[in-house]
Amino acid sequence: MRLLVTGGAGYVGSVVTALLLGEGHEVTVLDDLSTGHADAVPEGARLVVADLHEAADVLDPSVDAVLHFAAKSLVGESVTAPEKYWRTNVSGTLALLEAALRHGVRRLVFSSSAAAYGDPGSDAPIGETAPAVPANPYGATKLAVDHMLESWSGAHGLGAVSLRYFNVAGAHLGAGERHDTETHLVPNLLRVAAGGGGSAKVFGTDYPTRDGTAVRDYLHVADLAEAHLRALEHVRPGSFRVHNLGTGGGHSVREVIEAVRRVTGRPVPVEDAPRRAGDPAVLVAANDRARRELGWEPVRTLDETVADAWEFALSRRAPA
Ligand code: UFG
Repeated sequence: MRLLVTGGAGYVGSVVTALLLGEGHEVTVLDDLSTGHADAVPEGARLVVADLHEAADVLDPSVDAVLHFAAKSLVGESVTAPEKYWRTNVSGTLALLEAALRHGVRRLVFSSSAAAYGDPGSDAPIGETAPAVPANPYGATKLAVDHMLESWSGAHGLGAVSLRYFNVAGAHLGAGERHDTETHLVPNLLRVAAGGGGSAKVFGTDYPTRDGTAVRDYLHVADLAEAHLRALEHVRPGSFRVHNLGTGGGHSVREVIEAVRRVTGRPVPVEDAPRRAGDPAVLVAANDRARRELGWEPVRTLDETVADAWEFALSRRAPA
């Protein structure tokens, strides 16, 4: 297929692009490089440096489907600078959908987020029919796009699959996480393990969980990427469907720290810190729908996820 991947210079977009190229697809990446890196775009893909609002100039009727990753994705920043989130995530996506309509592109796979659910206030796995009450502007913009896609599928025959990611980590096919502002747990722990100095922080030790630290569902980016291939195969013009992507199991912050120590064999100094504003105690996916309807199965363990992230982090530190 001929595919447009928005945000293909970012973390998840670059991994999915590498997988798509390996499957023989032809990929054009649209990325404004505001947070992505040109050299993260896998070899074999064509990079067009442009804003989502210029999508009409990049799309053409020969494109079979769009995979849409381009977005602002820092929860904290979305609280202090919500305009960036509404402009890129919502207005940018609207421009992309208008371009798709104009050029007759009828299939789209969207990178959504568990942030659409907000804080479920329980430790039960979250299904797609759970109330979606975002706790921050980032989650609100992801949910707004889900609503936008649903209305476009009804009105304009767009076929869309929205994939709500839980916590993505790891690396695959030489592509991995390279955020200039790193807020995520696994890369922060690996930076310390690699001798980056200081200690990593454990945000919150008084949650109502088995060891007091927050529990998340950590999914290997390779498993996540494979779900996009399944979604591409299943997306049908005129239909809209949400799928949660997670392993269905959770690990506490302390369990992830232990996994990093085990896998790297390095000491990982940590210090306890207050809770981070807005962090729910437990977020775990119910992934039955993706398994059943997409035929998708996450298979990689937390240790494999950490090991692949570690290998990628070391490769980035190696002298050129
Ligand atoms: N944490 C630490 N120390 C750190 C970083 C994180 O203790 O240095 C903790 C957090 O408080 C949280 C857990 O580790 O309890 C995971 O934090 P991440 O920042 O790695 O991920 P989040 O669960 O906060 O965020 C992820 C996605 C968001 C999405 C959110 C809800 O990155 O985009 O899940 O779906 F909004």
